[in-house]
Amino acid sequence: MTKVLMVCLGNICRSPLAEGILQSKTNSEFVFVDSAGTAGFHIGNQPDIRSINVAAKYGIDISQQSCRKFSASDFEVFDYIYVMDKSNYANVIAKAPNTSEEKKVKLLLSEGTSEIQEVPDPYYGGNDGFEKVFQLIDKACDKIAEKINKNGI
Ligand code: 4NP
Repeated sequence: MTKVLMVCLGNICRSPLAEGILQSKTNSEFVFVDSAGTAGFHIGNQPDIRSINVAAKYGIDISQQSCRKFSASDFEVFDYIYVMDKSNYANVIAKAPNTSEEKKVKLLLSEGTSEIQEVPDPYYGGNDGFEKVFQLIDKACDKIAEKINKNGI
């Protein structure tokens, strides 16, 4: 089983989308995908309705997800930890038990490229921001799914 964790700040906008999108591109028998937030503002909540709606537009149901906070013990469970922006990166790295575990952590949009790109936080914007975020995450998850599927899962 390959285990992938998607992380953002609130775990209600970006990382729930990343969880649902990567799940839709991989086989749940072999790939476990989860998400978490570095902040605890919304623990137990459903994803933001704007994320639920944009995912539904593309046939993905994320409405059953429940917000949780990232914890240092996630390093014991997950093989890959993808973060949405540099701030998430710093918060997650701060909880790494050692430098070798730090290698698990990558910016989601750096997959398959050397560019440093972030998934912008859409929380304070309108629906168009959620569409943009969906497209950015979708492209990155294509690359991740290809990599995972090629390596025999
Ligand atoms: P997310 O977006 O990190 O993509 O889930 C946010 C959600 C909530 C807040 C900030 C960002 N907030 O400040 O409550």
